[in-house]
Amino acid sequence: MCGIIGYVGDERKAMEVILDGLNKLEYRGYDSCGLAIIENDSIFIAKKSGKLENLKDFLKDKEERSFIGIGHTRWATHGNPSDENSHPHFSNDKRVAIVHNGIIENYLEIKAELIKDGCSFTSQTDSEVIAHLFSKYYIDDPITTILKVKERLRGSYAIGIIDRDNPEQIICTRKDSPLIIGVGKNKNFIASDVPAILKYTRNVIFLDNNEIAILKKDSVKVFNSFGVEITKDIIKIDWDMEQASKNGYPHFMLKEIEEQPSIVEKTLNTYTDNLGKINFNSSLNIDLSKIKEIYIVACGTAYHAGLQGAHFLKNISKIKADVDIASEFRYSDPFINENTLVIFISQSGETLDTLMAMKMSKSKGAQTLAITNVLGSSIAREADMVLYTTAGPEISVASTKAYTAQVTLLYLLAIYLGEKNGVVDNESYHSYLDIIYKLSNNIDLILKKKEEIKLISGFLKNKNDAFYIGRGIDSKCCQEGSLKMKEISYIHTEAFPAGELKHGTIALIEEGTPIIAIATQEDMVEKMLSNIKELKARGAYVIAITKERYTNIIEISDNFITFENIEDIIAPTVANIALQLLAYYTAVEKGVDVDKPRNLAKSVTVE
Ligand code: G6P
Repeated sequence: MCGIIGYVGDERKAMEVILDGLNKLEYRGYDSCGLAIIENDSIFIAKKSGKLENLKDFLKDKEERSFIGIGHTRWATHGNPSDENSHPHFSNDKRVAIVHNGIIENYLEIKAELIKDGCSFTSQTDSEVIAHLFSKYYIDDPITTILKVKERLRGSYAIGIIDRDNPEQIICTRKDSPLIIGVGKNKNFIASDVPAILKYTRNVIFLDNNEIAILKKDSVKVFNSFGVEITKDIIKIDWDMEQASKNGYPHFMLKEIEEQPSIVEKTLNTYTDNLGKINFNSSLNIDLSKIKEIYIVACGTAYHAGLQGAHFLKNISKIKADVDIASEFRYSDPFINENTLVIFISQSGETLDTLMAMKMSKSKGAQTLAITNVLGSSIAREADMVLYTTAGPEISVASTKAYTAQVTLLYLLAIYLGEKNGVVDNESYHSYLDIIYKLSNNIDLILKKKEEIKLISGFLKNKNDAFYIGRGIDSKCCQEGSLKMKEISYIHTEAFPAGELKHGTIALIEEGTPIIAIATQEDMVEKMLSNIKELKARGAYVIAITKERYTNIIEISDNFITFENIEDIIAPTVANIALQLLAYYTAVEKGVDVDKPRNLAKSVTVE
């Protein structure tokens, strides 16, 4: 989704910093971009639809003369991706330029009122009203002005503003959309996310909802929602540019897939102590005697991690666990109360639907636990309790390592709650842990099969459709595998519980239709075998992802990827690595922009 960067410093390099920041924010997904800088007592704006290269090209002969500016990558919501609809937006008097991430829900009403006042609009966006309101309300200080503007806005926003008449400062604020401040030496920054500023500073202030900040080159002042100046902690980011760079890999996605063995190990090291016990320290404070039910709520890949998590909670902790998609859950009036624990999973910690579902759950009295990858993110700050995944920055839009980190953490959580619940005794506690300790090595072994998997993707790349089938927890793994394939290769895929296929979808099977069959569960092998036979009888080309010992599945399939005989409960997590690689190589074979697939955004901060 939209990305914001802003710079004010003692060096004339606003364009350079902004273009570099926009480059780092590209991973969020965008369809146009732009920047505004102050030079010679006026604001200069350049904006272009399409890739950042278009903007860079347009600016290539422009001399660098500015100490201050803001930039934006836009993911279109209101108005198509065009130069006019790109940000920044000017006020009519060209006094201010603004960038915005989020949605102003009541913009039509404000727009009508502004037009009546004689204001003219140059774009179809909801965001442009902010520029006009700021200019209209400006009295004599930016804080009073922005408070007045905020009073008018409904919806979600992170906003950055530069003002020709106060050319030494950036004004910013946020509500339900991410915005951070980078604090440097004689230079300060605003950004949607840390990678945009990491080259210049690791010191970050996380703005809370409704806070406002004024940045000058040598000061950052933060104000609360009443306009009173407050003191904020400066947090040191503990990861570096190397982790946020490709490091020799052709794509972030491959790098992130390959990081997974070490991420599993890191998760285990972080959350187990030398006595071999799971240790969440003070992060977890659940009164299990009160909890009658657990919900897991998330979007996209995080939702799929939740499906695995619910399986662990039911099987290991013997707790009733339901999983729902955040955009559904928040409007479903769920029957939750103080006896419900709701776990929210979000890599970015900024997904708007997940955040809103959490707010709704809190308003109903439920206990909330966030599992997120981003320190200080909105979801982390809103939750009663937080467990951080230790996946490091995930840049590729298609989530891989964050999923595996989430699943590993959920597995530990299930053992922990099972022990608290009195259903996991000392012996099973340690045998469950022994299983997860094998995960990293098993992922390593699958990664060594890259070349085999690449060959299979050569077959898939020319197909229009593919179906993923599995039974039990494998069918949930299919959902993630199918999503991964469609989001980066643009091949239409669907995931089904294998037994469900003959209730309709089998009508689509013809000679050569690819079926990816996941068979990792001992009690389901015979059933899967029958389903594969039914499909083969109709001409399907079956690619099995299965354990080495299920030779009958291997023999009947046209192609296969096998892995060691790891325990059933964690086997789908290993199978999923093969599915990630299959999607990755298919996308590479098709020549698709793997890390930035069309229309997608890494962090979905609008509904
Ligand atoms: C987007 C991303 C997915 C991600 C989903 C949820 O759709 O492209 O990769 O799984 O959002 O994001 P979250 O940050 O909440 O895990």
